[in-house]
Amino acid sequence: MEIIRQASLLHPLLSEYRDQGFSCGFVPTMGNLHAGHLALVDAAAERCDKVVVSVFVNPLQFGPNEDLATYPNTPEDDENALSAHGTAVLYRPSVEDVYPVGLESQTRVEVPGLSDILCGQSRPGHFIGVTTVVNRLFNQVQAEKAFFGKKDYQQYLIIRKMVSDLAMNIEVVGIDTVRLDNGLAMSSRNNYLSASEQAQAAWLYQVIQDTARQYQDDPSSASAILDRGVDELEKKGFVADYLTIRRQSDLNEPQAGDVELVVLAAAWLGKTRLIDNLEFVLT
Ligand code: PAJ
Repeated sequence: MEIIRQASLLHPLLSEYRDQGFSCGFVPTMGNLHAGHLALVDAAAERCDKVVVSVFVNPLQFGPNEDLATYPNTPEDDENALSAHGTAVLYRPSVEDVYPVGLESQTRVEVPGLSDILCGQSRPGHFIGVTTVVNRLFNQVQAEKAFFGKKDYQQYLIIRKMVSDLAMNIEVVGIDTVRLDNGLAMSSRNNYLSASEQAQAAWLYQVIQDTARQYQDDPSSASAILDRGVDELEKKGFVADYLTIRRQSDLNEPQAGDVELVVLAAAWLGKTRLIDNLEFVLT
């Protein structure tokens, strides 16, 4: 596995791959890799000849009171895991390399609408930071395919829309959420939870599953079902940010006839904000 810290060194290596006819799959991450990230790497390795993984904790997507300074950083473990999963290139740039003109004067990429609802409402500017960095990384890596987890469902849809709206020549592949045995979606932010909070955190997915089940039985009672779900979350010790049912395609409120839906939730457990979701189809 090649470890590259500068974009200028990435270009010659990747064009060599292209000249040799290899296809490239790209997995952007912020490091502290777990089985969820590695499922993306495995999916990329199955579909592409060379897998490029970036590890970059992107300051532009963190709000002023968020966890940029404490975001977990495990470079050696990441390196070992990526190498064991057949990664060809680990791109681990510095902030200066990604934002040579500085954060303030960096050109922004914004997907309006979709970036402003749900997590975008609670984390103003967050998705502009995501689309800006992903756009720049896409341009640097120039892969045929990029892999994103559906764990971050809104992020996945925003990236798909950015690629479509800007006619970018890359296929975005969504990968199912990897969970612990108790159902908790794997996340770097689970590191912030104590052992007892980790067990408690599994209720988030339970409530999401119950919500989907109840809605399938009786879609006309959506608001009562969602109220009950929020009550349940609060009883289990969460402070709910949102629990909602949306269309899979654009995260708008479901209209009559929409059958491909998704339950999305965000909730605080102590100082940790957790998100999760479940796609379902009305039959
Ligand atoms: P990060 O949180 O490190 O996640 C990197 C990728 O791993 C994302 O596509 C995310 O959805 C996926 N992922 C995380 N946990 C997962 C799980 N349990 N199952 C499946 N996939 C999972 O998301 C980001 O970084 C950043 O916003 C980034 C896109 C890298 C831009 O900075």
